[in-house]
Amino acid sequence: MAVETDDKAQSGPKHVAVIMDGNGRWAQMRHRPRLFGHHAGAKRIREIVEVCPDVGVKYLTIFAFSTENWKRTQTEVSGLMALFRKYIEKEAKDLIKDGVRVRFIGDRIKLDEKLVTLMDELELLTSHNDKVHLTIALNYGGRDEVTRAAKRLAYDIEKGKLTHKDVTAETLASYLDTHVLPDPDLVIRTSGEARISNFLLWQSAYSEYEFIDTLWPDFTAQEFCEVVGRYGARDRRFGAVKA
Ligand code: FPP
Repeated sequence: MAVETDDKAQSGPKHVAVIMDGNGRWAQMRHRPRLFGHHAGAKRIREIVEVCPDVGVKYLTIFAFSTENWKRTQTEVSGLMALFRKYIEKEAKDLIKDGVRVRFIGDRIKLDEKLVTLMDELELLTSHNDKVHLTIALNYGGRDEVTRAAKRLAYDIEKGKLTHKDVTAETLASYLDTHVLPDPDLVIRTSGEARISNFLLWQSAYSEYEFIDTLWPDFTAQEFCEVVGRYGARDRRFGAVKA
């Protein structure tokens, strides 16, 4: 897709995180089951990944399934899990070819073995790619991530690998699922809801937020580029006063 680029790409967000919300309502409006909306939502991902290099976005992190989403009906949960498997199987070839490095964050323990194998394989097969870094949050929750990190850190202290004096924000961050990623500069949530919903709680301490009314299946690459373009006009101070 041809999208206009300008100097803004230089000052634009390097890492954009997206809460892809509104699939259910999109389907309901069409008198279709919620899974129909999730399938339509999955189709949106490709064009947004494709446009990232044009607007200087090197890292894209998307919220696919939260630690709270298990509370949905069995039909919706198993339908989503099947969709994740299908997505990996169907998209792997193009992601590898297009230079996309894929990572998954979240707790894999509750996910089925077949899905985890596909996730591991895709991470490995794309590990030499560097054009766009796509991170998919699957069974992810910010509090859960920090808890798991704290547990591993406590274990290493118990084993004498480090002491309590070594515990700094940087040390804790190195135990997070996202330890190899920069913090997101911009977090976008679609569908008009203005909540964080347990997404990247630690990492988004200084992120800018954009709450967009469009439902995720209608969120085009063009709109993504517009939102990313607006970021250039923002004045981030990270808690300091402007000189
Ligand atoms: C929130 O919309 C969306 C989800 C819980 C699932 C997100 C999944 C996708 C976009 C598709 C699959 C993703 C991959 C990586 C293949 P909602 O269902 O809460 O919508 P609602 O608020 O309108 O009910």
